Amino acid sequence: MKKLTAALVAAGAAGALLLSGCSSERGGSSTEETAGSSESGGGFAADATIGVALPQKTSENWVLAEQLFKDGLSEAGYNPIVQFANSGVTEQQNQIQAMTEQGASVIVVGAIDGSQLGSQLEAAVDSGAHVIAYDRLVKNTDAVDMYVAFDNYQVGVLQGQALLEGLAERKGEGPYNIELIAGSPDDANSTPFFEGAMSVLQPKIDDGTLVVVSGQTSFEQVATQGWKAENAQKRMDTILAGSYGSTELDGVLSPNDTLGRAALTSVAQAGKETPVVTGQDSEVESVKSIMAGEQYSTIYKDTRELVAQTIKEIQALQKGEDPEINDTESYDNGVKVVPSFLLTPVIVTKENAADVYKDDDTLAPLTQG
Ligand code: GAL
Repeated sequence: MKKLTAALVAAGAAGALLLSGCSSERGGSSTEETAGSSESGGGFAADATIGVALPQKTSENWVLAEQLFKDGLSEAGYNPIVQFANSGVTEQQNQIQAMTEQGASVIVVGAIDGSQLGSQLEAAVDSGAHVIAYDRLVKNTDAVDMYVAFDNYQVGVLQGQALLEGLAERKGEGPYNIELIAGSPDDANSTPFFEGAMSVLQPKIDDGTLVVVSGQTSFEQVATQGWKAENAQKRMDTILAGSYGSTELDGVLSPNDTLGRAALTSVAQAGKETPVVTGQDSEVESVKSIMAGEQYSTIYKDTRELVAQTIKEIQALQKGEDPEINDTESYDNGVKVVPSFLLTPVIVTKENAADVYKDDDTLAPLTQG
């Protein structure tokens, strides 16, 4: 467990490095820069319309983001249009088009599928709007000014490290039988989550410490359409029935809490021992599970911080100033490396939950007693 604390310190240091302009996690150097200083045109009205196009309520963080954007943008004096696209990509395309037609000065996009919004965002930029990708990168278009997110590759690295720590702590000596789960293939975050984790786990698969009993190790094989818990549970049911027999499953790499809990349900229903399961989003049910010694870890990406940083960027643009950027290397969207402001994700286990959540009114009570 000491090593996990080191991982936490490393994550924090990595975050500090990003902020202080030293090399980022993936090589190259990121510097405290401001995006497009020569490109930033004039500002816009202090009561401007701000569009926020959110995806679907696949996890609690998105539900919280809706209310935080509505409240925060109104308090800042703007006219917010905050919408989920529950029925999918076409609805989100239409919402972005409508935000442009309503004269939005900034459109914040939490994309369902970041590769299918190019024409709507290009029209928004042509109308004079700024585009900020929120949490999930917008792909294959130049029509995105910046990206605000927790460093989602680092999320994966922390998940991989936590899985190894949990296996050593709860399952004794290896080799360990594991299975891999990834997020929805249309979510631009799913690949950095998976690639970050596999940067830690692949060497352990190669040396035999980890055995993926089902043999399913490619992103395509392990992705979960729509982040739907029932899809992850059905896949785990099939794997356990088809590949395990009386063999125990020691660990599961899960990219977020909803899918992690689905894996735990599947293993329990198969009558097997609780595996080490990772997660993300610090959802209430998962924090309870972690405190009860079931789920092993989650990730804290404080949505309050992410929304506050996004609004801070909007306020800079409104004044005709440059937005705050701390990474100009990591997130290539297929057309350009998108200037980013990356926040530092934090790994959470039962051991550090009380400390990590001490300022979170919803989660702190779950860690007491
Ligand atoms: C991702 C987000 C994660 C996770 C997932 C499912 O894009 O970054 O925190 O919640 O969506 O909603």
